[in-house]
Amino acid sequence: MATIIDGKAVAAKLNQETAKLVAELAAKGKKTTLAVVLVGEDPASQVYVRNKIRTCGEVGIISREVRMSKESTTEEVLEVVNALNNDPDVDGILVQSPPPPQVDEEKVIEAIHPDKDVDCFAERNVGRLLIGQKAGFRPCTPWGVIELLKHYGVDPAGKHAVVIGRSNIVGKPMAALLMQKGATANATVTVVHSRTPDITRYTRDADILIAAIGKANFVRGEMVKPGAVVIDVGINRIFDEKLGKNRLTGDVDFEECVEVASMITPVPGGVGPMTIAVLMQNAYIASKQRFEA
Ligand code: GUN
Repeated sequence: MATIIDGKAVAAKLNQETAKLVAELAAKGKKTTLAVVLVGEDPASQVYVRNKIRTCGEVGIISREVRMSKESTTEEVLEVVNALNNDPDVDGILVQSPPPPQVDEEKVIEAIHPDKDVDCFAERNVGRLLIGQKAGFRPCTPWGVIELLKHYGVDPAGKHAVVIGRSNIVGKPMAALLMQKGATANATVTVVHSRTPDITRYTRDADILIAAIGKANFVRGEMVKPGAVVIDVGINRIFDEKLGKNRLTGDVDFEECVEVASMITPVPGGVGPMTIAVLMQNAYIASKQRFEA
Protein backbone atom coordinates (compact mmCIF):
# COMPACT_ATOMS: atom_id res chain seq x y z
CA MET A 1 0.00 0.00 0.00
CA ALA A 2 1.25 3.43 -0.98
CA THR A 3 1.70 6.37 1.38
CA ILE A 4 -1.19 8.74 0.77
CA ILE A 5 0.11 12.26 0.24
CA ASP A 6 -1.81 14.76 2.36
CA GLY A 7 -2.12 17.87 0.21
CA LYS A 8 -4.49 19.49 2.67
CA ALA A 9 -1.90 19.37 5.45
CA VAL A 10 0.97 20.65 3.29
CA ALA A 11 -1.25 23.44 1.90
CA ALA A 12 -2.27 24.44 5.44
CA LYS A 13 1.39 24.76 6.37
CA LEU A 14 2.16 26.90 3.30
CA ASN A 15 -0.93 29.04 3.97
CA GLN A 16 0.28 29.67 7.53
CA GLU A 17 3.61 30.90 6.16
CA THR A 18 1.85 33.13 3.61
CA ALA A 19 -0.48 34.51 6.30
CA LYS A 20 2.54 35.57 8.32
CA LEU A 21 4.12 37.34 5.33
CA VAL A 22 0.83 39.01 4.39
CA ALA A 23 0.44 40.26 7.98
CA GLU A 24 4.00 41.63 8.02
CA LEU A 25 3.31 43.54 4.82
CA ALA A 26 0.00 44.82 6.23
CA ALA A 27 1.86 46.06 9.33
CA LYS A 28 3.96 48.19 6.97
CA GLY A 29 0.75 49.61 5.51
CA LYS A 30 0.40 47.42 2.40
CA LYS A 31 -2.72 45.33 2.29
CA THR A 32 -3.03 42.52 -0.26
CA THR A 33 -6.05 42.25 -2.55
CA LEU A 34 -6.89 39.50 -5.02
CA ALA A 35 -9.63 39.94 -7.63
CA VAL A 36 -11.37 36.74 -8.69
CA VAL A 37 -13.49 36.95 -11.84
CA LEU A 38 -16.03 34.23 -12.54
CA VAL A 39 -17.83 34.37 -15.89
CA GLY A 40 -20.89 32.13 -16.08
CA GLU A 41 -22.20 29.40 -13.81
CA ASP A 42 -20.01 26.36 -14.41
CA PRO A 43 -20.57 24.32 -11.21
CA ALA A 44 -16.95 23.19 -10.86
CA SER A 45 -15.68 26.76 -11.38
CA GLN A 46 -18.10 28.00 -8.72
CA VAL A 47 -16.62 25.53 -6.23
CA TYR A 48 -13.02 26.50 -7.12
CA VAL A 49 -13.80 30.21 -6.81
CA ARG A 50 -15.52 29.68 -3.47
CA ASN A 51 -12.48 27.77 -2.16
CA LYS A 52 -10.09 30.46 -3.41
CA ILE A 53 -12.10 33.20 -1.73
CA ARG A 54 -12.37 31.23 1.51
CA THR A 55 -8.61 30.68 1.57
CA CYS A 56 -8.02 34.41 0.98
CA GLY A 57 -9.96 35.00 4.20
CA GLU A 58 -7.83 32.45 6.05
CA VAL A 59 -4.51 34.06 5.06
CA GLY A 60 -5.62 37.69 5.44
CA ILE A 61 -5.87 38.53 1.75
CA ILE A 62 -8.75 40.79 0.77
CA SER A 63 -10.77 39.15 -2.00
CA ARG A 64 -12.76 41.00 -4.61
CA GLU A 65 -15.23 38.67 -6.26
CA VAL A 66 -16.55 39.74 -9.66
CA ARG A 67 -19.37 37.61 -11.06
CA MET A 68 -20.35 38.05 -14.68
CA SER A 69 -23.31 36.55 -16.53
CA LYS A 70 -22.86 33.52 -18.75
CA GLU A 71 -23.87 35.69 -21.73
CA SER A 72 -20.92 38.08 -21.21
CA THR A 73 -18.97 39.03 -24.32
CA THR A 74 -15.18 39.09 -24.65
CA GLU A 75 -15.35 42.90 -24.70
CA GLU A 76 -17.27 42.98 -21.42
CA VAL A 77 -14.72 40.71 -19.74
CA LEU A 78 -11.88 42.83 -21.15
CA GLU A 79 -13.52 45.94 -19.67
CA VAL A 80 -13.62 44.34 -16.24
CA VAL A 81 -9.99 43.20 -16.54
CA ASN A 82 -8.89 46.69 -17.61
CA ALA A 83 -10.69 48.28 -14.68
CA LEU A 84 -8.92 45.85 -12.31
CA ASN A 85 -5.58 46.52 -14.06
CA ASN A 86 -6.03 50.22 -13.37
CA ASP A 87 -7.29 49.80 -9.80
CA PRO A 88 -4.38 50.64 -7.46
CA ASP A 89 -5.94 48.58 -4.65
CA VAL A 90 -5.88 45.34 -6.69
CA ASP A 91 -2.64 43.35 -6.56
CA GLY A 92 -3.64 40.18 -8.38
CA ILE A 93 -6.26 39.26 -10.99
CA LEU A 94 -7.54 35.79 -11.74
CA VAL A 95 -10.17 34.95 -14.35
CA GLN A 96 -11.42 31.44 -13.61
CA SER A 97 -10.94 29.06 -16.53
CA PRO A 98 -12.73 27.96 -18.62
CA PRO A 99 -14.97 30.93 -19.47
CA PRO A 100 -18.13 30.32 -21.55
CA PRO A 101 -17.32 29.46 -25.19
CA GLN A 102 -18.15 32.88 -26.67
CA VAL A 103 -15.40 34.48 -24.56
CA ASP A 104 -11.95 34.53 -26.18
CA GLU A 105 -9.81 33.30 -23.29
CA GLU A 106 -6.53 34.04 -25.01
CA LYS A 107 -7.47 37.70 -25.37
CA VAL A 108 -8.54 37.83 -21.73
CA ILE A 109 -5.25 36.33 -20.52
CA GLU A 110 -3.27 38.75 -22.70
CA ALA A 111 -5.21 41.67 -21.23
CA ILE A 112 -4.25 40.93 -17.60
CA HIS A 113 -1.31 43.11 -16.59
CA PRO A 114 1.73 40.81 -16.20
CA ASP A 115 2.43 42.30 -12.75
CA LYS A 116 -1.05 41.17 -11.63
CA ASP A 117 -1.04 37.79 -13.42
CA VAL A 118 -1.18 35.58 -10.32
CA ASP A 119 -2.12 32.52 -12.41
CA CYS A 120 1.22 32.83 -14.25
CA PHE A 121 -0.61 32.47 -17.58
CA ALA A 122 0.64 35.61 -19.39
CA GLU A 123 3.38 35.49 -22.03
CA ARG A 124 5.97 37.34 -19.95
CA ASN A 125 5.52 35.10 -16.93
CA VAL A 126 5.42 31.85 -18.94
CA GLY A 127 8.58 33.01 -20.71
CA ARG A 128 10.35 33.70 -17.43
CA LEU A 129 9.31 30.30 -16.13
CA LEU A 130 10.77 28.58 -19.18
CA ILE A 131 14.02 30.54 -18.89
CA GLY A 132 14.20 29.47 -15.26
CA GLN A 133 14.23 32.80 -13.47
CA LYS A 134 13.76 32.30 -9.76
CA ALA A 135 11.78 35.43 -8.92
CA GLY A 136 8.26 36.13 -10.05
CA PHE A 137 5.02 34.21 -10.21
CA ARG A 138 4.73 30.46 -9.92
CA PRO A 139 2.41 28.36 -12.08
CA CYS A 140 -0.08 27.40 -9.34
CA THR A 141 -0.78 23.71 -9.93
CA PRO A 142 2.67 22.61 -11.18
CA TRP A 143 4.43 24.49 -8.40
CA GLY A 144 2.02 22.90 -5.95
CA VAL A 145 3.09 19.47 -7.24
CA ILE A 146 6.78 20.35 -6.81
CA GLU A 147 6.06 21.49 -3.23
CA LEU A 148 4.30 18.19 -2.48
CA LEU A 149 7.27 16.20 -3.79
CA LYS A 150 9.61 18.36 -1.72
CA HIS A 151 7.57 17.89 1.47
CA TYR A 152 7.51 14.13 1.00
CA GLY A 153 11.24 13.93 0.32
CA VAL A 154 10.89 12.92 -3.34
CA ASP A 155 13.87 14.32 -5.25
CA PRO A 156 13.12 14.34 -9.00
CA ALA A 157 16.86 14.58 -9.90
CA GLY A 158 17.79 11.90 -12.40
CA LYS A 159 14.33 10.32 -12.22
CA HIS A 160 12.07 9.71 -15.17
CA ALA A 161 9.02 11.95 -14.77
CA VAL A 162 6.13 11.30 -17.14
CA VAL A 163 3.49 13.99 -17.51
CA ILE A 164 0.18 12.92 -19.05
CA GLY A 165 -1.38 15.99 -20.66
CA ARG A 166 -0.03 19.08 -22.43
CA SER A 167 -2.32 21.89 -21.29
CA ASN A 168 -1.07 25.42 -20.77
CA ILE A 169 -2.34 25.33 -17.17
CA VAL A 170 -0.66 22.08 -16.08
CA GLY A 171 1.14 19.82 -18.58
CA LYS A 172 3.46 22.34 -20.26
CA PRO A 173 4.53 24.28 -17.15
CA MET A 174 4.80 21.01 -15.18
CA ALA A 175 7.28 19.62 -17.70
CA ALA A 176 9.20 22.92 -17.69
CA LEU A 177 9.57 22.91 -13.90
CA LEU A 178 10.60 19.26 -13.67
CA MET A 179 13.33 19.60 -16.31
CA GLN A 180 14.71 22.80 -14.78
CA LYS A 181 18.21 22.96 -13.38
CA GLY A 182 17.73 23.29 -9.65
CA ALA A 183 17.41 21.64 -6.29
CA THR A 184 13.81 20.46 -6.69
CA ALA A 185 13.98 19.42 -10.36
CA ASN A 186 16.62 17.93 -12.72
CA ALA A 187 14.28 15.18 -13.89
CA THR A 188 14.25 13.51 -17.29
CA VAL A 189 10.82 14.43 -18.59
CA THR A 190 8.47 12.76 -21.05
CA VAL A 191 5.17 14.39 -21.99
CA VAL A 192 2.46 12.11 -23.38
CA HIS A 193 -1.01 13.18 -24.51
CA SER A 194 -4.18 12.23 -26.34
CA ARG A 195 -2.29 11.62 -29.61
CA THR A 196 0.42 9.43 -28.10
CA PRO A 197 0.07 5.80 -29.21
CA ASP A 198 0.58 3.24 -26.42
CA ILE A 199 0.77 5.64 -23.47
CA THR A 200 1.36 2.69 -21.13
CA ARG A 201 4.76 2.10 -22.71
CA TYR A 202 5.86 5.44 -21.19
CA THR A 203 3.87 5.44 -17.96
CA ARG A 204 5.21 1.99 -17.01
CA ASP A 205 8.71 3.49 -17.04
CA ALA A 206 7.84 6.52 -14.89
CA ASP A 207 9.42 6.98 -11.46
CA ILE A 208 7.15 9.99 -11.04
CA LEU A 209 3.84 9.89 -12.89
CA ILE A 210 1.75 13.04 -13.14
CA ALA A 211 -1.74 12.69 -14.55
CA ALA A 212 -3.33 15.85 -15.95
CA ILE A 213 -5.41 14.67 -18.86
CA GLY A 214 -8.94 15.35 -17.60
CA LYS A 215 -10.27 11.80 -18.01
CA ALA A 216 -11.77 10.08 -14.98
CA ASN A 217 -9.76 7.09 -13.71
CA PHE A 218 -7.60 7.07 -16.87
CA VAL A 219 -4.47 5.71 -15.16
CA ARG A 220 -5.04 2.05 -14.29
CA GLY A 221 -2.92 -0.05 -11.96
CA GLU A 222 -1.15 -1.90 -14.77
CA MET A 223 0.03 1.42 -16.24
CA VAL A 224 2.08 2.21 -13.13
CA LYS A 225 5.59 1.00 -12.34
CA PRO A 226 5.73 -0.67 -8.92
CA GLY A 227 7.05 1.86 -6.39
CA ALA A 228 6.33 4.92 -8.53
CA VAL A 229 5.15 8.23 -7.09
CA VAL A 230 1.73 9.00 -8.59
CA ILE A 231 0.39 12.56 -8.63
CA ASP A 232 -3.22 13.04 -9.69
CA VAL A 233 -4.05 16.51 -10.98
CA GLY A 234 -7.46 15.55 -12.37
CA ILE A 235 -10.76 16.72 -10.94
CA ASN A 236 -13.62 14.97 -12.71
CA ARG A 237 -17.27 14.74 -11.76
CA ILE A 238 -18.73 11.27 -12.30
CA PHE A 239 -21.98 9.59 -11.43
CA ASP A 240 -21.33 6.96 -8.78
CA GLU A 241 -23.74 4.04 -9.26
CA LYS A 242 -23.19 2.77 -5.71
CA LEU A 243 -23.74 6.18 -4.08
CA GLY A 244 -26.51 7.07 -6.52
CA LYS A 245 -25.08 10.60 -6.94
CA ASN A 246 -22.23 12.59 -8.46
CA ARG A 247 -18.83 12.57 -6.86
CA LEU A 248 -15.34 13.89 -7.62
CA THR A 249 -12.66 11.59 -8.94
CA GLY A 250 -9.20 12.13 -10.35
CA ASP A 251 -7.45 11.03 -13.55
CA VAL A 252 -6.04 8.06 -11.61
CA ASP A 253 -7.88 4.91 -10.61
CA PHE A 254 -6.99 5.33 -6.95
CA GLU A 255 -8.10 1.89 -5.75
CA GLU A 256 -5.88 0.11 -8.27
CA CYS A 257 -2.89 2.44 -8.21
CA VAL A 258 -2.65 2.71 -4.41
CA GLU A 259 -1.65 -0.97 -4.46
CA VAL A 260 1.20 -0.41 -6.95
CA ALA A 261 2.62 3.04 -6.16
CA SER A 262 4.92 3.99 -3.27
CA MET A 263 3.15 7.34 -2.81
CA ILE A 264 -0.07 8.67 -4.28
CA THR A 265 -2.22 11.80 -4.01
CA PRO A 266 -5.95 11.44 -3.32
CA VAL A 267 -8.74 13.44 -5.02
CA PRO A 268 -9.96 15.52 -3.29
CA GLY A 269 -7.33 16.53 -0.74
CA GLY A 270 -4.21 16.10 -2.90
CA VAL A 271 -3.14 18.64 -5.49
CA GLY A 272 -6.27 20.86 -5.28
CA PRO A 273 -5.47 22.61 -1.99
CA MET A 274 -1.86 23.06 -3.15
CA THR A 275 -2.97 25.00 -6.25
CA ILE A 276 -4.77 27.45 -4.00
CA ALA A 277 -1.84 27.69 -1.57
CA VAL A 278 0.48 28.70 -4.44
CA LEU A 279 -2.12 31.20 -5.69
CA MET A 280 -1.99 32.80 -2.24
CA GLN A 281 1.83 32.94 -2.46
CA ASN A 282 1.52 34.64 -5.85
CA ALA A 283 -0.94 37.22 -4.50
CA TYR A 284 1.58 37.99 -1.75
CA ILE A 285 4.41 38.23 -4.31
CA ALA A 286 2.30 40.65 -6.42
CA SER A 287 1.51 42.77 -3.40
CA LYS A 288 5.11 42.89 -2.19
CA GLN A 289 6.42 43.77 -5.64
CA ARG A 290 3.91 46.61 -5.97
CA PHE A 291 4.80 47.87 -2.50
CA GLU A 292 8.52 47.87 -3.28
CA ALA A 293 8.20 49.27 -6.79
N1 GUN B 1 -9.15 26.39 -13.87
C1 GUN B 1 -8.55 25.25 -13.45
N2 GUN B 1 -7.42 25.56 -12.79
C2 GUN B 1 -7.30 26.90 -12.80
C3 GUN B 1 -6.34 27.81 -12.29
O1 GUN B 1 -5.32 27.45 -11.66
N3 GUN B 1 -6.59 29.13 -12.49
C4 GUN B 1 -7.68 29.58 -13.17
N4 GUN B 1 -7.84 30.88 -13.35
N5 GUN B 1 -8.58 28.76 -13.68
C5 GUN B 1 -8.39 27.42 -13.48
